[in-house]
Amino acid sequence: MATFPVTRLRRFRRTAPLRALVRETRLDPGELVAPLFACPGERVVEPISGLPGIARRSVDELAAEAARLQALGIGAALLFGIPEEKDDVGSGAYDADGIVQQALRAARGAAPDLVLMTDVCLCAYTDHGHCGLVEDGEVVNDASLELLARTAVSHAEAGADAVCPSDMLDGRVGAIRAGLDDAGLERTPIVAYSAKYASAFYGPFREVADSTPAFGDRRSYQMDPPNVREALRECELDLEEGADAIMVKPALPYLDVIRAARERFDAPLLAYNVSGEYAMVKAAAARGWLDERAAALESLLAIKRAGADAIVTYWAADAADWLA
Ligand code: PBG
Repeated sequence: MATFPVTRLRRFRRTAPLRALVRETRLDPGELVAPLFACPGERVVEPISGLPGIARRSVDELAAEAARLQALGIGAALLFGIPEEKDDVGSGAYDADGIVQQALRAARGAAPDLVLMTDVCLCAYTDHGHCGLVEDGEVVNDASLELLARTAVSHAEAGADAVCPSDMLDGRVGAIRAGLDDAGLERTPIVAYSAKYASAFYGPFREVADSTPAFGDRRSYQMDPPNVREALRECELDLEEGADAIMVKPALPYLDVIRAARERFDAPLLAYNVSGEYAMVKAAAARGWLDERAAALESLLAIKRAGADAIVTYWAADAADWLA
């Protein structure tokens, strides 16, 4: 390549149309996934202090929100539930009439073309707040798998287009695939939270989902932040167990993990731009320290540039507006 003064990279940066012509990465609302939180009651839209702009919604309100997301051209919604009651086996997670199952039926009616995905985990349904069964102060692996599989099957039966296990227990993808297939749900894809780290950036989410562990933390099952090769092993195992797509979470502090997974695997790759990543920008914007729109779109673009095909983000609806 010739060097200066023959080569001047500023030539293609001079005007907006020139920049647009050579842009390497673009964002489209169709690749954004909006998290939705279903709670008991009727006509409830309860804002969350740590996540401005995001609310817990009763099933009727969640269905209306799903219709709005569909109209905005958003790719998918990812449903979470806040049950009325919790117990030590998380029975609300796999109750055919549980909160997510009800929300799925209502959202399906209101937004027939919106992809409905569900978070498959026990932490919002257990009184101890852990993602699996607890015995002698430890999260037990194999006994929890059956409950996760039952949860996934009940979501698919209630209309989920894809199920997303986020527990990080070993063998969950295989157990869920077998459970779905046994129930005649072989068409339902699994989007595995494959590389999910034990992160400080989930703080605001746990307030929404009321899922902070009552004792200890999640480090015995979620990944250790310093590790990237281990993330690739997690992805590989999930794909071998039958995952149809893989996910890296959080996104911005783990762009290297997204890039590594993209280079190694050809499966669809999602990234979760988590609650803390959103809350940081919101808090700075509220103080006038950052321009929210510019910082949000730059964040999403960076996640895409790192290699994500789709992004779960609390900015989904706003971003669709900004991109319109
Ligand atoms: C459930 C789950 C969590 C998130 C998604 N699914 C919380 C956790 O693992 O503690 C976090 C999402 C966010 O912070 O936006 N296991």
